[in-house]
Amino acid sequence: MEVVIVPSAQQGSALAAGAIAQLLRTKHDAVLGLATGSTPLGVYDELARLHTDEGLSFAEARGFALDEYVGLPPDHPESYREVLRREIVGRVNFAPGAVRTPDGWASDLPAACADYEQAIVAAGGVDLQLLGIGTDGHIGFNEPSSSLASTTRVKTLTPQTRADNARFFDDDIDAVPEHVLTQGIGTILRARHLVLLAWGENKAAAIAETVEGPIRAMMPASALQLHPHATVIVDDAAASLLQKADYYRYVYDHKPAWQGI
Ligand code: F6R
Repeated sequence: MEVVIVPSAQQGSALAAGAIAQLLRTKHDAVLGLATGSTPLGVYDELARLHTDEGLSFAEARGFALDEYVGLPPDHPESYREVLRREIVGRVNFAPGAVRTPDGWASDLPAACADYEQAIVAAGGVDLQLLGIGTDGHIGFNEPSSSLASTTRVKTLTPQTRADNARFFDDDIDAVPEHVLTQGIGTILRARHLVLLAWGENKAAAIAETVEGPIRAMMPASALQLHPHATVIVDDAAASLLQKADYYRYVYDHKPAWQGI
């Protein structure tokens, strides 16, 4: 695992967007794993800028969202299908239908999950998966106690996650759905490059446990320790509880320039 500590979320977002741009330039039909929530918004802004200013093309790329709420009205502005359309898909030149989200409106949710898992395999797997992290250590919506081998399935959000996400629903926790569909931790681990982002002090405890704690189902993001190419990009505040922060800075500062993240 590589830990990159940056002075600001803006610099971290530019670094992640640069890795995605580099991937798209070398592999035009790359498969991107897209996160929602507030953390990746700067990455999406930078990708939209690269598309507009430098002609970065998404025409052959495909994308898979990490997760989706169950039971929101189909046109709800906070459904992840709609969030992704607003924040990235509608701002660049993805082909129609190239970006999928799990179907949180399906009448048969387990079948929709199996279909989603199969669609990722059929696309050749995810090349680069963007991830945020919950204050409770979730990735996707794999809440604490999730199997580290899990695949796409229905999960119940913890009260902590519903409280964290109430800010997207006019601070009304009762408006936050109780259930979601999410790629599993096993699904996420099959992506070829994992890029986890975290900004701010409220993520510091989860980041410290993810990077330096034991691998355990109660801290789902700690599964990244099992991945051969995982990059954790954090700002100073999110890095504030890392015991080996100076070491991570030293390693990154001495990295060969050609290596990228
Ligand atoms: C969103 C997702 C979640 C979020 C996490 C952090 O697709 O999978 O794991 O990344 O809840 O959310 P923010 O970024 O809003 O702090």
